[in-house]
Amino acid sequence: MPDSLANRSEIERWNGPAAQRWLAERERHAAIRHRLLPHLLALSRPDDVVLDVGCGCGDLTRALAGSVTGLDVSEPLLEVARRSVPGVEFRRGDAQTYPLPPAAYDLIVSSFGVMFFDDPVAAFGNLRTALRASGRLAFLCWQDPLANEIFAIPLRAFRRYGFAPDPISRDSFADPGAISAMLAEAGFAEVQVDALREPARLGSDVPDVMGYAFGSSQVRDLVAAAGPEVAARVRAEMEAEFTARTRPDGVWVEAAAYLVTARLMPA
Ligand SMILES: C[S@@+](CC[C@H](N)C(=O)[O-])C[C@H]1O[C@@H](n2cnc3c(N)ncnc32)[C@H](O)[C@@H]1O
Repeated sequence: MPDSLANRSEIERWNGPAAQRWLAERERHAAIRHRLLPHLLALSRPDDVVLDVGCGCGDLTRALAGSVTGLDVSEPLLEVARRSVPGVEFRRGDAQTYPLPPAAYDLIVSSFGVMFFDDPVAAFGNLRTALRASGRLAFLCWQDPLANEIFAIPLRAFRRYGFAPDPISRDSFADPGAISAMLAEAGFAEVQVDALREPARLGSDVPDVMGYAFGSSQVRDLVAAAGPEVAARVRAEMEAEFTARTRPDGVWVEAAAYLVTARLMPA
């Protein structure tokens, strides 16, 4: 690993700094996704044979009904998954290139684990081969970062001072038209992209969520570009936004995701 040139930098990232941050923030990320995962789980049936792509620490894998296999490129996260979900098979591999058993699964799911492929059409094409003729694909991905308060609060503040990338995101998963096109090209039909908005608990209090926001590489890069004076103003604006969203049980923002579903294109 990596066994090919595909996704080399993402594979390194998810076996290095991204895995460390994901593990350090595991509880927070679970809280953020808590109201989103039921939308995905509602699509699984008890008899389904399921593949969980980009399964990470196995939080969705554990919650899924039926017979389930987890697939991920990250050994540190798979180690946690194997410990926390005993009896479930976890495989280490790149969903874009991994030799999956043909026509083996009723359902391929992912909770924010399919957004990192350097060739999404090839990756979904590989996943398609592992679905039975009646099989379904269902995954969650983030909407545009400016529509999603998890990322939008720092980005909006930097933007007011002219320090934010334009466009903010080149992520094709933030664009329902691009998602439909890439899945159609990969051989899927009946693609549906449903916009979800759910409350997400971002942290326990304002200092906690400020620490989380300023720990992200995107915000650190923006601070470095903007300089200390602008960074101090941005910080004050963010604190005000998070204070306005503080409840007795924590700081709650509005998460915006897409629930994407599709079926195999008839042969
Ligand atoms: C944002 S995390 C989501 C983890 C998990 N699904 C969850 O919701 O907790 C993204 C996951 O996708 C995995 N990943 C990234 N690229 C991948 C690839 N090409 N094939 C399989 N997994 C991949 C990462 O290692 C990571 O575990």
